[in-house]
Amino acid sequence: MALTNIRATEASLKEALEKPGAEERELTLMEQLLLRPELSHKDVVTLILDMIFAGIDTTSHTMAFALYLLAKNPEAQRKLQQEVDQVLKDNPETLTPAHTAKLSYTKAVVKESLRFFPVAMGFMRELSSDVVLSGYQIPKGSSVLMLNYEDAQKDTAFPRPREFLPERWLRGNDLAASHAFALLPFGAGTRMCVGRRLAEQEMYVFLARVMQRYTVNYNYGDMDSTMQLILKPSQPLKFSFTDRRA
Ligand code: HEM
Repeated sequence: MALTNIRATEASLKEALEKPGAEERELTLMEQLLLRPELSHKDVVTLILDMIFAGIDTTSHTMAFALYLLAKNPEAQRKLQQEVDQVLKDNPETLTPAHTAKLSYTKAVVKESLRFFPVAMGFMRELSSDVVLSGYQIPKGSSVLMLNYEDAQKDTAFPRPREFLPERWLRGNDLAASHAFALLPFGAGTRMCVGRRLAEQEMYVFLARVMQRYTVNYNYGDMDSTMQLILKPSQPLKFSFTDRRA
């Protein structure tokens, strides 16, 4: 689908640029990329596919999982609504960094949702030197996989791992992770997710706005995840939203 769209845009681009008034039209991102001589067709395809898989499906699936977890944990949902009501009480049209800085519980909900359902299940590294991991000697050149999905569910890493407890991500409580690298949903080091800050900002704003206005319910049994390159919800997203102002 994405490939077909890229080819179609490429094919019609020259014609579109020759049309009267074309110079006044704002070019789409894909058109701008296709016009850059230093980028090959393959570069543009890679960038667009990356943007869709890495940039869209990741945040949207995470938010679907978060809404499901909030619906199943009404106490957490109530706390989130209380925080949002307090921070956005003047109902601003624009949510500024000053607002998001105060949304600690909202941020904790996003982290806890990523612990339950890490859309990027893990990440891989090729070892540049010999290392010892958990007592095993692993030679240079081996591929090592860090599996968030596995590790974040263990009680050696998190107390009460099967419970949705956003509080564990707030300062000073005994539900915290056993070590700083127990969960790395965005990876780590120089190759960690380049979109992390953007993704986090999008998710905080989305949750704050939805929870400000609605209470979410999900009455269709348990939702699980299925692996399709990234983790996605296994069931249709049959949420119901009740307007809090009604
Ligand atoms: C919930 C949201 C997201 C999650 C959980 C996530 C997770 C990840 C993970 C685990 C990696 C591999 C990191 C590593 O190997 O250390 C990665 C890489 C990447 N992500 Fe994200 N991501 C998210 C959103 C986004 C967004 C919104 C964008 C773009 C706007 C994006 C763009 C990328 C790119 C381009 C890479 C490859 C970076 C590289 O290889 O140097 N991601 N992401």
